[in-house]
Amino acid sequence: MSSSQVLDKRRILLGITGGIALYKCCDLIRSLRKAGAELRIILSTGAEKFVSPLLFSSLSGSQVFTNADFFSPDDSIIHIELGSWAEVNVIAPATASFISKLRCGQASELLLATLLASKAPTYIFPSMNTTMLEHPAVKENLSTLRNYGYLIYEPKEGELACGVSGKGRLPEPEEIYELLIAHFKPKTLLGKRVLITGGATREYLDDVRFLTNASSGKTAYYLLREAYYRGAEVHLLWGLETFPYVLPRLDYVSSVPYPSIYTTLTTEEMFNKALELFPKVDLAIFASAPCDFTPVEKIPGKIKKKDSLSLSLRLTPDIAKTLGHIKGPKQVTVGFALEEPENLYHYAVQKRQEKNFDLIVANPLGTAGRERSSYFLIGRDSALKFENLSKQELAEMLFEMIELPA
Ligand SMILES: Cc1cc2nc3c(=O)[nH]c(=O)nc-3n(C[C@H](O)[C@H](O)[C@H](O)COP(=O)(O)O)c2cc1C
Repeated sequence: MSSSQVLDKRRILLGITGGIALYKCCDLIRSLRKAGAELRIILSTGAEKFVSPLLFSSLSGSQVFTNADFFSPDDSIIHIELGSWAEVNVIAPATASFISKLRCGQASELLLATLLASKAPTYIFPSMNTTMLEHPAVKENLSTLRNYGYLIYEPKEGELACGVSGKGRLPEPEEIYELLIAHFKPKTLLGKRVLITGGATREYLDDVRFLTNASSGKTAYYLLREAYYRGAEVHLLWGLETFPYVLPRLDYVSSVPYPSIYTTLTTEEMFNKALELFPKVDLAIFASAPCDFTPVEKIPGKIKKKDSLSLSLRLTPDIAKTLGHIKGPKQVTVGFALEEPENLYHYAVQKRQEKNFDLIVANPLGTAGRERSSYFLIGRDSALKFENLSKQELAEMLFEMIELPA
């Protein structure tokens, strides 16, 4: 199921308590609504002191509950109804006070009673001043809640609303949103190890100049995201200087390790690291665009300006081909081919055989850099064509198709 659909019609209960970071819920609610999630929002007594329910009901397009609804003379028992309605509960931000009350099993207000009446997984995002967070009582409360099965998401470090810097920040809305996407992804890769290469590499002429290409690494990011959200231990070899994407910390709330991201700027560095990691992985996907050539000689310092300059280049190691030929019987390799549209299919079939890939993804040269493209997915005895796929959809499709030996 694609990420754009994974939250569609999912029943998410958002509990908002009286921490200053509750303003971040506005963006979270907007994203969840856009993704088609069904939302119910409950404000704690503290949260009601900061905002009116109108803010969140306008943003979410759904009813926002407060303690006034707890004892309303209605046919239904609201905390039981809400507690059994939700597929997942998210408490963000969670105040020290709320954490303490939940730990004691208090049911004195609607949000607390709803959580006691719920069997759904519950993510708790503590958010407070660092000294409060480090108080032994708060630490003990969190530890007990963890033992009860609540999924406690470690607060972030950084500047806090009270003006000091330290641990206690609520994660950005995007991180909470991504965590929810990961929550609903099928965990088909639990216990599997996946190696992904991504981005362009660079080959230095001197200390400041290099040859490279336009690969953005976006496809590799979506592959990493999909493999990680499906539960794999992911190792990314990244040919770019920065990794600008937000990933939630699944290791805080599950046994899925946070991906290892290695910056390997030259093809040789990427090759050496790939050789080291490859024996331990079940699946390798070669989505980087390593430079095929490197200068025979690298000049120390900076080459001085002159009328002309001739470069002598030699081939770099072929990462995908080398690993494709040393793979074990239970290892799967997937490669990419970017070629002229006329010969795309035939070239990709040939390349799959030459590099011993189990699967090759081929897309036409003219679409490089665009968000959407057409793709061939060619296996040992199958070939499929997809039109107008985004990079995210491609990554999701690939993991639907890849079958790993038990
Ligand atoms: C301006 C202001 C900001 C606050 N920010 C936080 C906070 O970030 N985290 C926290 O645990 N408590 C914070 N508090 C304290 C809580 O609002 C207070 O403990 C309240 O009783 C919590 O109620 P609740 O648990 O019903 O939401 C803040 C209080 C004020 C006045």
